[in-house]
Amino acid sequence: MTENYNAINWNAVDDAIDKATWEKLTEQFWLDTRIPLSNDLADWRTLDDDHRWVVGHVFGGLTLLDTLQSQEGMASLRKNTVTMHETAVLNNIQFMESVHAKSYSSIFSTLNTPDEIEEIFDWSDTEELLQNKTLKIRDIYKDEPNPLKKKIASVFLETFLFYSGFYTPLWYLGHNKLSNVAEIIKLILRDESVHGTYIGYKFQIGYNQLSSEDQSELKDWLYDFLYKLYENEENYTHLLYDQVGWTEDVLTFIRYNANKALMNLGQDPLFPDTNEDVNPVIMNGISTTTANHDFFSQVGNGYLLGNVESMQDSDYNFGKKI
Ligand SMILES: [Fe+2]
Ligand SMILES: [Fe+2]
Repeated sequence: MTENYNAINWNAVDDAIDKATWEKLTEQFWLDTRIPLSNDLADWRTLDDDHRWVVGHVFGGLTLLDTLQSQEGMASLRKNTVTMHETAVLNNIQFMESVHAKSYSSIFSTLNTPDEIEEIFDWSDTEELLQNKTLKIRDIYKDEPNPLKKKIASVFLETFLFYSGFYTPLWYLGHNKLSNVAEIIKLILRDESVHGTYIGYKFQIGYNQLSSEDQSELKDWLYDFLYKLYENEENYTHLLYDQVGWTEDVLTFIRYNANKALMNLGQDPLFPDTNEDVNPVIMNGISTTTANHDFFSQVGNGYLLGNVESMQDSDYNFGKKI
């Protein structure tokens, strides 16, 4: 007897978080083409070569990570979904990862010359520390049979590894510069916040079904993996930021976000750094402009849906005379 094929029924949802996440993600849908990036050119011209190098290469690194998420990450996680609605949510996430990866190219084509763009891509395709972290995650997506380890890798990428890069546009935002570039990053950050918490939540469902022996084994693996990523990230941060003197500040910020990644996975923090240790300029950049950054932190013990401002027709009037 052949097996039947079932239609997805959104009126019979097994996990309410799937539906709430779908609604949240579709409500906050955006495209890079709507942001008037060329308004940042005047600011860009005031930056010296060292700071321009940092901006360009930080975004080169972020492009590589979003490429991995869009080309392989979500396809890999989709092999282990429990509900059809979870698959639908991952389809949405995969498309948005492609939007993220593309949006850095919009930034490059606005701020950088064709030669600079070529150099940035050569750099991100070969830079050892950047390749290290990307390949560590890619290998898990590709070869790891344990679906929980794949979810850990995804949460570490999205809630931890992105933040050495996010620091730069948030710093400029806090100093009233490059605000349209920052707008794109805020939109990406808002998406990543939902992705990291949703995938972390799915991780916790599986983790809670393990025996305590298997849990502690996985926990050891998870902290060991995070620490290896942190060591590499420390060197990557020096490579990017020593020339502008921001390294220590960035390291505090990434340790704070490593703790958030652990929180998404329902685990205890590894580092002593809290939001009070992070440069307030950076925290302002996050809080004033991404009101929903933490919207999902209630998952697991009473879920709160964040509010998203609804779109107006006038939102599409960029560059038009009204
Ligand atoms: Fe992304
Ligand atoms: Fe993501």
